[in-house]
Amino acid sequence: MSRRSPMSEVTLRLMMAVGTAVIGSLQFGYNTGVINAPQSTIESFYNETWFSRFSEHIDQGTLTALWSLSVAIFSVGGMLGSFSVGLFVTRLGRKNSMFVANVLAFAAAACMGFSKLAESFEMLIAGRFIVGVYSGLSTGFVPMYVEEISPTSLRGAMGTLHQLGVVIGILMAQIFGMESILGNSTLWPLLLGFTLLPAVLQCVLLPFCPESPRYLLIDCNEESQARSILVKLRGTDDVSDDMQEMREECQQMKREKKVTILELFRSPTYRQPLFVGVMLQLSQQFSGINAVFYYSTGIFEKAGVSQPVYATIGTGVVNTVFTVVSLFVVERVGRRPLHLIGLMGMAISAVCLTIAMALLEQLRWMSYVSIAAIFSFVAFFEIGPGPIPWFIIAELFSQGPRPAAIAVAGCSNWSANFLVGMGFQYVEQLFGPYVFIIFTVMLLGFFVFTYLKVPETKGRTFDEIAAGFRQSAGQLDKYSAAEEFDTLRGDDPDL
Ligand code: GLC
Repeated sequence: MSRRSPMSEVTLRLMMAVGTAVIGSLQFGYNTGVINAPQSTIESFYNETWFSRFSEHIDQGTLTALWSLSVAIFSVGGMLGSFSVGLFVTRLGRKNSMFVANVLAFAAAACMGFSKLAESFEMLIAGRFIVGVYSGLSTGFVPMYVEEISPTSLRGAMGTLHQLGVVIGILMAQIFGMESILGNSTLWPLLLGFTLLPAVLQCVLLPFCPESPRYLLIDCNEESQARSILVKLRGTDDVSDDMQEMREECQQMKREKKVTILELFRSPTYRQPLFVGVMLQLSQQFSGINAVFYYSTGIFEKAGVSQPVYATIGTGVVNTVFTVVSLFVVERVGRRPLHLIGLMGMAISAVCLTIAMALLEQLRWMSYVSIAAIFSFVAFFEIGPGPIPWFIIAELFSQGPRPAAIAVAGCSNWSANFLVGMGFQYVEQLFGPYVFIIFTVMLLGFFVFTYLKVPETKGRTFDEIAAGFRQSAGQLDKYSAAEEFDTLRGDDPDL
């Protein structure tokens, strides 16, 4: 463990590498938020294009279907991208993977930016899919790279920077999407094509960033190169602690065989951390956060708010401010307490929102209560459930199984994101003002799960965390021995 104070480990090199990587997170956030505000403007474009092709107006059903597809195809791309993370990171390395993925960002920006000129809504939808794939890859590449290059004492804070990139991206999209800026009938192609600029910036900066020393040492056996990069990242010649820790992990890995996604599910050692990682990702999405980020304007309208667009931007600001709060407390308070506080706070806020929505007819001032409830819902989200699931998955696994685990957890996050994005409006029609009660029930369930099953990872090395799981899996040894016996008998439980 390092003997230096955490602040002295925040070197310019480290910040530059993390800052460059989280441009990928910003792209993910930007494209999550960008489609919300200009909905009616872009729908008019769909209508005009339809008219110029078929000489008749598009019917409402087709328009709704095309719009839902344009929104949701982003998460379909995300599922595909997040699941493919492992194909890149071990072969190309972490840094080159991020670099190469920008091809997708360029292609997506071109498709979306030129769709109006080409009079093709298909291009816009294709662009949303491609940028979804890019974002899915980013949600794997960025936390992995950031966690691997950060010193143990700063891993939580640095990992939270991924989420900070996401929330700044959302806020930028909300602001640029205002009608007076880019969200109007002339400039919306620029709003969507904006993705080009962060991609260019990342491509210019990445060549100056180091490869992950952990990847170089453990995956490529390049000890001296790993050491010289660590010296630069840590700003000191004394990197023996880090090197020692990596070597131990490397030794441990040699005892394990290479881990594929299938093996992750089979091995009792990995099953437990995988379950924890996936459940944390599900707690993030089924908290209902994206019901707010995809549909806040509609929710505020129903809650009787007179200027819903400004209230929506308000959620973006609260979102950003509380991610910064989390950034500063995560290393002191730890992951587990923050996740628990966040889930409980969200559950209470959701109850307040439900009461406010239900009483709106009788008491008009309840609209203010609903704004406050949504703001506190978002604030509590960013305290824990927003940032923590993205980076804790990298902490729960050692180098060998990490890419496969990140792929599985990321894909479950994106799938849940898709379900909430597609399903919320239908469920809302069924439950009316009581829709957030469903999220409350899930939040309480995830609270109990976190309390019972999630270990604290703060200040522990990757190897120590993995050893903790190996120990508890040791108690399952009897079970796995029985399983092996079954397999030998040709009675494979996984088939
Ligand atoms: C997290 C979620 C994302 C959500 C965002 C809101 O990054 O993964 O789906 O939109 O937080 O801040």
